[in-house]
Parts: sequence; structure tokens; C-alpha cells
Amino acid sequence: MNAHVENTLFNDRNAALLDHPADADHLKAALRTLGGGVSIITAGEGEARTGATVTSATALSVEPARMLVSLNRSSSTWPVVERYGHLGINIVGADHETLADQFAGRGGLRGPDRYRGGEWTTAVSGAPLLVDAVAAIDCVVEEAIERHSHVIVIGRVVAIRIGTGHSLLYQNGRYHDVAAR
Ligand SMILES: Cc1cc2nc3c(=O)[nH]c(=O)nc-3n(C[C@H](O)[C@H](O)[C@H](O)COP(=O)(O)O)c2cc1C
Repeated sequence: MNAHVENTLFNDRNAALLDHPADADHLKAALRTLGGGVSIITAGEGEARTGATVTSATALSVEPARMLVSLNRSSSTWPVVERYGHLGINIVGADHETLADQFAGRGGLRGPDRYRGGEWTTAVSGAPLLVDAVAAIDCVVEEAIERHSHVIVIGRVVAIRIGTGHSLLYQNGRYHDVAAR
């Protein structure tokens, strides 16, 4: 096949794809298609406790055991993570949809009120951990890299709890129960 024919075929294939400008709205639209595992980030003690629902928690490496989470710098959670130097990463399941909504700030709950309805214990790092989480990973902050609107928090794993069930998935603006598929 000569170069011209190859090129024409390539362009024809591309013409079938929809091109969009590389802006925030289209990036959000692209990312909505990506299913993300839901975790609740917890930090602080007593009345200073707060937290956030995230899909950005993932492993940086397993050896050494390091997690990373991308947190909005303007969220109520980042200053508490920074102050206490710890974070609980609670991987949640379908039973925790209400809690996930609370920690996403839906319903207007803030700080310790977001913990309402859950059973909590204190982890090695001092962070609160959800007793019946699918799994919970307790971290101390190793490094925090502030970039643009967010901060990439690298957590050194200090304790791990493994429960039962499947992680809740968030895709196209709603939760999906993986176990029900
Ligand atoms: C499914 C889901 C995933 C989210 N993922 C993130 C995330 O990775 N990082 C983040 O900073 N906020 C994320 N958010 C938003 C936070 O949960 C929310 O902004 C925060 O808890 C509320 O902010 P506030 O504490 O300042 O009220 C997510 C929300 C939802 C519903």
C-alpha cells in the first residue's frame, strides 16, 4: 500500500471520531465515562474531623506501600489532612452510598456531621476509619504536591484493614453496585 492510500484510510477512520476542543468541559465529559472506585477520605480528630468522597485514591506503588489521592485545595479536607499529617482511605461498597453522599457535601453536612450513620474507629495514624469499609488504608502524609487547583497527597501506608464486599463504582454521574452486575 502506498503512503497516499495509507494516509487516506487513516484520515477516513479519524473522520468517524468526534473531535472536541481540549477544554475543561470536554475533559469532564470524557472522564464521566471512566468508572472510578469510590473511597471516603477521612482526617482529623473529634470536632475537627472532616473528609471527602473521592475517586482519585489509588496506589502509587505497592513496594514501598504508598497511596496517592488528588484533593481539591479549596476543599475542607485538605487543610485538615495537612494539619494532622494523616488520612484514612476507606474503600466503600453499595451499603455506603448515603455516607459517600454525605462526604461529597451533598445535603450540606460539614465536618464531623459527615460521619453520621457510620461506625468509626481510630487508626494507627489517628485518622478515623470506617469499621465496615470494604477495605481501609491508613496513611501518614509523606509528601504533598500542590498543582493548579489540587494537591497530590502521597500517603505512606501504616495500617490496612480488609473487610468484605465490593467497591462502589462511580460512572456517568451515578453510583454502580459492581456486585449486582
Ligand atoms: C464520586 C465523587 C468523586 C469525587 N472525587 C473527588 C476527588 O478525587 N478529589 C476531590 O478533591 N474531590 C472529589 N469529589 C468532590 C468531593 O467529595 C467534595 O467536593 C467535597 O467532599 C466537598 O467539599 P467541602 O469539604 O469543601 O465541602 C468527588 C465527589 C464525588 C461525588
